[in-house]
Parts: sequence; C-alpha cells; structure tokens
Amino acid sequence: MSLLIRNGRIVTAVDDYLGDLLVDGERIALIGQSLDVTADRVLDAAGRLVIPGGIDPHTHFDMPFGGTMSSDDFETGTRAAAFGGTTTIIDFANQPRGRSPLEGLDTWHAKAAGKASIDYGFHMILTDMPAERLPELERLAQEGVTSYKLFMAYPGVLYADDATLYRAFRQAGENGTMVSMHAENGIVIDEIVKLAKAEGKLAPRWHAHTRPTRMEAEAVNRAIAIAEVADVPLYIVHLASADALEPIRWARARGIDVMAETCPQYLLLDDSVYDRPDFEGAKWVMTPALRDKSNQDSLWRGLALGDIFAIATDHCPFNMKDQKVLGREDFTRIPNGAPGVENRMALIYSAGVLGGRITLNQFVQLTSTSAARTFGMFPRKGTIAVGSDADIVIFNPDRKETISVTRPHTHHMNVDYSAYEGFEVQGWPEIVLSRGQVIVEDGQWYGQAGAGRFIKRARYGDLLRAEPRSDRVRSEGRQSGLAAR
Ligand code: URP
Ligand code: ZN
Ligand code: ZN
Repeated sequence: MSLLIRNGRIVTAVDDYLGDLLVDGERIALIGQSLDVTADRVLDAAGRLVIPGGIDPHTHFDMPFGGTMSSDDFETGTRAAAFGGTTTIIDFANQPRGRSPLEGLDTWHAKAAGKASIDYGFHMILTDMPAERLPELERLAQEGVTSYKLFMAYPGVLYADDATLYRAFRQAGENGTMVSMHAENGIVIDEIVKLAKAEGKLAPRWHAHTRPTRMEAEAVNRAIAIAEVADVPLYIVHLASADALEPIRWARARGIDVMAETCPQYLLLDDSVYDRPDFEGAKWVMTPALRDKSNQDSLWRGLALGDIFAIATDHCPFNMKDQKVLGREDFTRIPNGAPGVENRMALIYSAGVLGGRITLNQFVQLTSTSAARTFGMFPRKGTIAVGSDADIVIFNPDRKETISVTRPHTHHMNVDYSAYEGFEVQGWPEIVLSRGQVIVEDGQWYGQAGAGRFIKRARYGDLLRAEPRSDRVRSEGRQSGLAAR
C-alpha cells in the first residue's frame, strides 16, 4: 500500500517547507516537490501542516494506584492518543516491590499485547534495587527498556531512598542507560500532610498546600547531585515549578547531563482549580500538584530556551464517579493523576505556537523529536525523513475546537471528565498515520487494537549529551542513537 501526501507544509524540529511525501508500506519512501509518482491513495494536504506523529513519553495505562486502576487501558488509551495526534507512547511498567523488574515487564507486555493500536515502549519503575538485582538492569536494557523511573515521593508505596537511587543510578550509567526521576521530597511532604490532617484539613485543596514547590526543587537538586556523582544522564519528569527549574538551569550551565519534561497541565492550569466547590478540585489532584499561575511563564521560558526538553502528559486518569470519590473525606485517598494524552498536541500548538511562546519547529521538537532522541527511537520515530516510520499527522492549523467531555469528537479517553473542559484551541490533528496506515480521518477511527508494536529502544545516544563528557563517560555498552529494530 502506498500513499502520496501532496502540497503539505512539512515541518520537523529543524525544517519547514512545502512538499510532497510518498509513503510506501510502513515507511517514508520519498520527499520532494511535485513528485512525479503514482500511489494507491493521494491525500491533498494544502493548507495543512505535515508533522511527525506526537510522542508522549509519560503515560500510565492500566496502572494500579491508590487502591484502584487508571481508567484507560492500552486499547482506550492508545486510541485516544491517536485521535489527539500522538502515534507513540512510552508507558511505565512497575517492578513489583521485592520482586524482579523483569516480572513487571512481562506484566506490562501482557497489558499492551492485542490492545495497543499505536507503537509503544516501556520505562521501568524501580521500587527497590538491592545489589543482587543490579544485573537485571542490563537484562532490561537488552529487552529494549533503556530508561528507569525512580520516586523520591510516595513513601511506603513507590518511594526509593537515596542509597537505592545511587545504586540504581550507578548501574544505569554503567549500562549506558538513563534514569528519570519523580522529584519531590516525599518524606518532608508526608510530615506536612500529617500536620494538615491533624488540623482537619481534608479537602482536595490541601493536596496542593501540602506539597510546596521548595520540596520539588530540593529533590531535583539532590537527584542532580546523585546523578552527577553516579555518572548517569538524568531526566526529570513532570517538572511543575519555577523553583524546580532553577537547579536544572544551573546544572545544565555546568555541563551536567540533566534534562526535564513538563506537561500541559503545568503550563495551562493553576492551583485555583482546587478551590472549586463540591469536591471538583479532585479532578486535578495529581503529583506534583498544580502550582500558582506565576510559575507558568518560567516554564514556557524554560521550553523556549531549551532548559526543558520535552512536553509529556503524565496521563493517569481516574473517573470522578467511582475513583476520585475514594478521597471524598480525605484528600490523601484521592487517586493521583489526571487525563490528557488526547489533548497535548492541540493545546501546545494553540497556547505555545499561536500564543507566541515557542516556534513551530520547537513545537515538533518538544512534542515528538526530543522524546525520540532522548529515549532511543530516533530517527525511526520523531521526524519526517526518508526511511523513518510513516507516523505522520496532517494537522489543520486553522481549525478551532472546544475541548469538552460532552463533545465526543474531542474526547475519546475512558474517563468521565476533561481536565481541559471548555478550553478553546486552534489547530487540530485531522489525519493520523501509524506506520503508513491511516488510523484517524475526519473524526473516524480506522485503527486496530493490537496493531501497535513494542519498540525496543536503544541506549542513550551519543548525540544527546549536553556536551562531550570525555573522561567522565564510560563508553562501553553505549550504542548510537538508532533504535534496534
Ligand atoms: O499524579 C500523578 N502524577 N500520577 C501518576 C504517577 C506519577 O507520579 O507520575
Ligand atoms: Zn511521577
Ligand atoms: Zn507519571
């Protein structure tokens, strides 16, 4: 099957030109002007952007949390992602505490198999890492799981102490893999939470009041120091505050290999939502919590200047009706997380590009290319180039929509509310291709559960280092940036 996309404005992280693009089978076969070729199908993309499919490197499908499971599984979650213009996700598999992370990997493979309609990879959440388990990290890397997430938050649940961090960081560095970090000082936060509860402060707003930005900044700073000593590249997930951006800027200026992602919720929503009546604030109980609006400018600036590297969603949905309500009488029992995998591309184009915060090339970089490069999938994913997978979005930059759970063509996630209810956006993914197949067109679904493939990701590539680390870098085991097929 071949497909010719004519007259589009082809935009990558670095290019921007009018052209035609031929897809042959699963890959991009030819790019040029007025291509003299025939194809099984021709799409006219005049007036449209032709961009690489979005990559969301932070989702939680079918994940156990707070006594329940996130409400999107790999079928509903990847389908919603595709409707929103995202064609690859990296989800988080959990190491069962006290057991092998390889068991966790098997569990997540079983969750995704036969369900995912777009390609996917896994990071591994490490919940403990005694010395005798360290060789399992290399086995994970050989299985294509080349990044790990550890938590400085959630004591007693996912929390890892500093010794565990150091052991895991060191081994990950040795293996040429990378670590990502949920950076909040969970130990201090738990003390603040205890005090709040003792004073009867139990409404959703106290979730935010008990998680100061300084505790995010402290953890980011500590994670950077441990990563520097352990000699491993570090990726801070869901960066939420200006305070926490400071140590990242400082470290990057010193040439330390630290990257960060932020999420649309921290750029576009603020903590005033927690004051809404009738428990509505529970919709946005996520960790880190939404911050004071004054943080948003710093985060946008961080994106524009390259200190923040990528925009993910941390999609972790729970229904209000029977899940968030678990914390009706006590905010600490509200399952943490919010939906967003479907909304990212339209929100960021609209607020970021049209809002004058980032350029069109940066939009592609932040929503696709960075994740592909950082997480070992480039150039197979994350760009429009001959030989790359034909994961392509035909994006209408003029189309206006209002995002709402009551407007089904804007909401395919399996959750009973939208975190962006009533948001007006301009710019919409109209046609979405996954490895050459049209899976979304005119609001209709043509994808197939099970068509998505697991991506064995390469180890952290040489391309990505903030600067050559010469004698500090252990080169054994490292590969180039190309993902193993
Ligand atoms: O509230 C959130 N973010 N839930 C998902 C787990 C995590 O910390 O990323
Ligand atoms: Zn987290
Ligand atoms: Zn998360």
